[in-house]
Amino acid sequence: MPRSQPLPLPFVTQVEPYLPGDFAADGVRDPVKLSSNESLLGPSAQAVKAYENAAAALARYPDSQCTGLRQKLAALHGIDAGRIVCEAGSEQLINLLARIYAGPGDEIVYTRHGFIAFRIAAQSCGATAIASEERDFVANVEAILECVTRRTRVVFLANPNNPTGSWISASEIARLRHTLPPRVLLVLDGAYADYMDDPDYNDGMRLVSDDAPNTVVLRTFSKIHALAALRVGWAYCPTPVADALNRMRGVFTVSTPAQAAAEASVEDAAHLALARRHNQEWREWLTGELAGLGLEPLASGGNFLCIAFRDKAHALSADAALRHAGFIPRRLEEYGLDRFLRLTVGLESHNRAVVDVLKKVR
Ligand SMILES: Cc1ncc(COP(=O)(O)O)c(C=O)c1O
Repeated sequence: MPRSQPLPLPFVTQVEPYLPGDFAADGVRDPVKLSSNESLLGPSAQAVKAYENAAAALARYPDSQCTGLRQKLAALHGIDAGRIVCEAGSEQLINLLARIYAGPGDEIVYTRHGFIAFRIAAQSCGATAIASEERDFVANVEAILECVTRRTRVVFLANPNNPTGSWISASEIARLRHTLPPRVLLVLDGAYADYMDDPDYNDGMRLVSDDAPNTVVLRTFSKIHALAALRVGWAYCPTPVADALNRMRGVFTVSTPAQAAAEASVEDAAHLALARRHNQEWREWLTGELAGLGLEPLASGGNFLCIAFRDKAHALSADAALRHAGFIPRRLEEYGLDRFLRLTVGLESHNRAVVDVLKKVR
């Protein structure tokens, strides 16, 4: 070992790795990946065509501002294009927001079984991640508020949450925002918002305001748009947050083919409606079938189910049986959910086969 060498900042070696969903199962050719909440329906045909057409522009840098995409998103959601910031996936935005608003000595609050990228983002800027307790795997506003100290800089909440699928109502979100100190940034991650069908749900977009510039909403093209490989996420922000993100983000991080496909996907309302309908129908069917087998799927607002088994051994037997049959679920040990598996809602044939496999697991 050399006597002197460049050293990373002390907290860097403490950052835990993000474990992506498995994509291979031993001895199974072309397994069906139900481990990353990707859309099994695939992207809009128009998005694929736009991606292919973008091949003509590969020699040129992309539009660093994602102008066309921001305009289309603004028109779709009735929001201000000037306060949308695009990045290479919403996970990048989570990390940037943590880094911009917190550092060593600060605290970032998330929920006990909240999306793990929130905890990793806190670790990777040297802040302390504080987990608020949930009630029956659902975020609890009271508990989040109790975690807030003078060191708290950011609260991250995925609504619906991954991996639990649980969500809280529009009025609870509003209460959280209005009770949090105004100096605390509330980041509402709506990665699965497009799948919600609860009339009492609100994605929080209307809380994003320059009058109270402390709420950000994140969205992604990786889920209902089925463009995970292209890495496109976006934030709707108050002006000062958009300004900070634009200073800190990478300049050309969203490639031209990615922008082209995302723009076309935003315009393909029919494909999005089909994906939403498919998910609602099969999420409900799976929930009923799994409950009929004596399993306990948590109520889910996303394109996946978080399923409680009797105990860890039971969950591991189910994991092995599913893999053997060619379906890869997501184990959730790093969330402390040892007796749970998460399964993405698949195509009809996948869903039926998954239930048939689970019927035989003792
Ligand atoms: C709640 C939540 N937020 C954000 C992301 C990251 O999405 P992206 O692919 O845009 O980085 C995911 C991906 O699984 C997620 O579950």
